Order: sequence, then structure tokens, then C-alpha cells
Amino acid sequence: DKAGHKHFMAKEITEQPAVIGDALGHYLSADGRDVILPGGDGLDFTQIDRMTMVACGTAYYACLTAKYWFEQLARLPVEVDIASEFRYREPPIPPRGVALFVSQSGETADTLAALRYCAGKAERIVSVVNVDESSIARESDLALPIHAGVEIGVASTKAFTCQLTVLLLLAIKAAKARGTLSEDAVADLLSKLRGLPATINIALEMDDDFKKAARRLAEADNALFLGRGLMYPLALEGALKLKEISYIHAEAYASGELKHGPIALIDKRMPVVVMAPRDALFDKTVSNMQEVMARDGKVILITDRRGAEAADGGIWRLLTLPEVDPVLSPILYAIPAQLLAYHTAVAKGTDVDQPRNLAKSVTVE
Ligand code: M6R
Repeated sequence: DKAGHKHFMAKEITEQPAVIGDALGHYLSADGRDVILPGGDGLDFTQIDRMTMVACGTAYYACLTAKYWFEQLARLPVEVDIASEFRYREPPIPPRGVALFVSQSGETADTLAALRYCAGKAERIVSVVNVDESSIARESDLALPIHAGVEIGVASTKAFTCQLTVLLLLAIKAAKARGTLSEDAVADLLSKLRGLPATINIALEMDDDFKKAARRLAEADNALFLGRGLMYPLALEGALKLKEISYIHAEAYASGELKHGPIALIDKRMPVVVMAPRDALFDKTVSNMQEVMARDGKVILITDRRGAEAADGGIWRLLTLPEVDPVLSPILYAIPAQLLAYHTAVAKGTDVDQPRNLAKSVTVE
């Protein structure tokens, strides 16, 4: 049932405020000042020296985002890998380490194989899953459900933002346990998280703006996505979404890499989607944008009000999101990444929910 939407993907995009709210409801303590994991306090972050996160596709980008959170908030070193690389590299698993696997379906063959490789070697096997009864959930010491509800569109949307939500909650819990965030700082972040579904609703109401930008994107053969820090994994996710459903060739780079190669691609036919809230790294991103515009590249800037004010003229399309604490920005900026891809695909008339050559769950290598 598409609930009046043209595609399951559109329905699942609009469900995000509700399912994120639901996920928060499952993990927050009654007073809202603490994160409670299912099955009690089985994960002692004071006894852990490092974390290894493994996944595929969009779930891998959720892990890349979470690396920033665990390192910055909890000062916990994190290694992230693609499951198909990890499993055959047979990496040494250090003691006092947690191995964490993220998978919507819980059945992705490479992720499951990577989990089995770590079983008995890592201190704890933790998974972040949408399907509670899945193989990955069953074979973990601790399975953390994301409460996204059934996701039908092959392009993952609400599962991604719910994965991010649960991973951020886990990072906040780790930070509290390790004493790297004060109790008040934790309570403050958690209260901002509770306000996020309402902020996402505001972004969803900008649907027409994304549709207009997408109409132009649909004319392109190639697109580049740029982001720094927490926005770098989001740029990767935006490029993957666009490729999957609109079949436009898209690549993502950390903005600082522009000069090291991809700038050679910029000409007047190259749209460049820049994801950049006004955070500590914003000025550096502005200078990357100027380099793109000086070569006639078409910049689509996704930012907030202060970013829009600070960005110079010459921007092709400006999309202004509500302001959020920079820590939460990946969850909000997932919305424009999804809506740009969605409307581009609709404009091109592709099969949004069942893109060619793709399966919802990749249970073979
Ligand atoms: O079920 P999983 O989360 O393990 O699936 C991982 C990837 O196959 C999946 O995220 C894929 O990249 C999606 N089609 C992305 O939209």
C-alpha cells in the first residue's frame, strides 16, 4: 500500500519523521537523559578500545558517518570497511574490540560472512538491523533494531536515517560511559534529537524546491557530490541514490580531494551538488565551490540559512534547510539527498522502486 504516494520510495521518505521518532522512543530513558539498549547494559564502553564497523552500500555509508560520531563524541577509534573487502582480507581482530555490523535486511551475504569471521575473535558482536528475525540479528551478541518498519523501495531511505539515529544514540551512550561528554551535554544532544523529526518535516515541505532542482539535474549525464567531515559520507550516499534510481553517473568526493583529480571533470555541463551546513568547515567548502564555479560548473548548494547568507553569488541552485546542531546534520541532510535522486528519477521516468539490475536484499556474493 503506497498510502496515496506514486512510489514506495516517496512513501518511505515521508515516513521518516515518524519512524525516527519511534526509534527514539525505544532507546530513550523515561526522563530523556539517557540511552537504554535492549537487553540491559550488556555493552560496557569503558572496556572497549576500538570498534570495527562493517556493511555494504548505504549501510556502509551509515557506518562511515558513525565513525565521525564515535571518534569525536566518545574518542573511540573506529575502523570502517566494506563487507566484501573485510571478509577476504582476514584482518587481525584486536582484543577489547567491538565488531559492529549494519544491515537493513540482516541477510546481506558479505556482511553475514564478515560477522561470522569476527565471531569468537571480537569481544562483542553487535548488529544494527531492521529485520529482527534476520540471520545477522540472530548471530549477534547484541542486535539493535532500527524500528524503520518494512522498507520496500530498493533504494534505502528510512532505513538509512534510522540506522544513523541508532548509531548516534550508541555513540552518545559511549561518550557518556567514557566520560568524554558530560551528563548535561548528553541530555542536551538527546533533547535536540527529539526535536529532529519536526525539523525533518520542514525539509520534507521543501519538496517543490527539490523537484525544481531535480528537473535540471535530470538533463545531466554526470554529477559530482562534494562534502566535508560528516557531510562526506552523505555526499557518497547522495551519489549512490542518484545512480541507483536515475542511472545518472554520479561520484562523490571529500571536498578537499577536488584539486587532486576530479576538478579536471568540471565544465559547464557538470552539476556539482555541495552539501554544507554552516559548520566549522564551511569556509573551506566555499572556496571549493568557487573553484568549481570558476570553471563554469553548476553548483547546487544544500545548506542552512547562515550558509546561504555566507555563500557568494554564482550558485546555480540554492536549497536552504533549517538549522540543526552540526552533530545531527547527517540525518537531516539525508532528506535532500533522497529527494533530489527521487525527483530526478521521476523526471527521467525510470522505475523508481525496482531499478534495473538491483535486488532489495543481496543474499549472494
Ligand atoms: O540489507 P542491507 O542493509 O545489508 O543492504 C546493503 C545494501 O545492499 C543496500 O544498502 C543497497 O546499497 C541499497 N540499494 C542502497 O539504496
